[in-house]
Amino acid sequence: MTTIPSETVIETRHYTDDLFSFRTTRPRSFRFRSGEFAMLGLPKEDGKPLLRAYSIASPNWADDLEFFSIKVPNGPLTSRLAQIKPGDEILLRPKPTGTLVLDALLPGRTLWLVSTGTGIAPFASVARDPETYEQYERVVLTHTCRTQAELQYGIDVVDGIRRDEILSEVVGNRLTHVATVTRETAGPNTLEGRVTDLIRSGELFEATELPAWSPDVDRVMICGSTAMIADTRVLCEAAGLDEGSNSAPGRFVVEKAFVG
Ligand code: A2P
Repeated sequence: MTTIPSETVIETRHYTDDLFSFRTTRPRSFRFRSGEFAMLGLPKEDGKPLLRAYSIASPNWADDLEFFSIKVPNGPLTSRLAQIKPGDEILLRPKPTGTLVLDALLPGRTLWLVSTGTGIAPFASVARDPETYEQYERVVLTHTCRTQAELQYGIDVVDGIRRDEILSEVVGNRLTHVATVTRETAGPNTLEGRVTDLIRSGELFEATELPAWSPDVDRVMICGSTAMIADTRVLCEAAGLDEGSNSAPGRFVVEKAFVG
């Protein structure tokens, strides 16, 4: 049996009863493309590893690794992972992979990062990667959650970009964050409704001052709940976008956010 390397937890941050983020050490040999996921977990009582796919939320240039997770009360992994604290060890299998990567898309002008819930994690990586802004003129990060409190992680990531001396220079005003809530009245700088409805009504394009999706210039990455992915996929296809992969780049790419 191959042993899975362990990494040390540096920081944890709890956003709501259901959501938290954590940072760990990063081995020098751990390489990834922004947007990829890795297998992460804890040993079970019998000593065998319990691993799940976790999108890496930190950009590939960062010294440490960041993850954003739900807490499922009786979830075999997340209920325990939610208890970790600085100094604890987690298991992290090297060799990340995934399709939410710039390489899986054909060149374009605007990159749309469409997420719900913890599906924002891979986009926290892509949106903090200077390479993204070399390849795209504009980047739109959409994040739909049930409540305002669930949007906070994404708000912090975007604030972090604006406060970072180097990144803010690279990004300028080319990143637009569209946060939407579905089960509360929208707070400041937040829209109300599912992103899919905002696409259908045109409200998303009005809010970003961009034209509706076109196969010539728009590229879309989708990550979140199964239902959101299915609906957004239909909208992409209706706009003439075709699905891409690492081996055959296209105009949109999809990945399900980890649940459970
Ligand atoms: P809603 O509250 O209208 O169901 P969940 O917590 O169930 O994973 O949902 C996270 C967010 O994704 C919620 O805001 C939810 O909206 C939204 N959502 C769920 N299904 C879809 C869908 N088919 N299209 C767009 N957004 C969706």
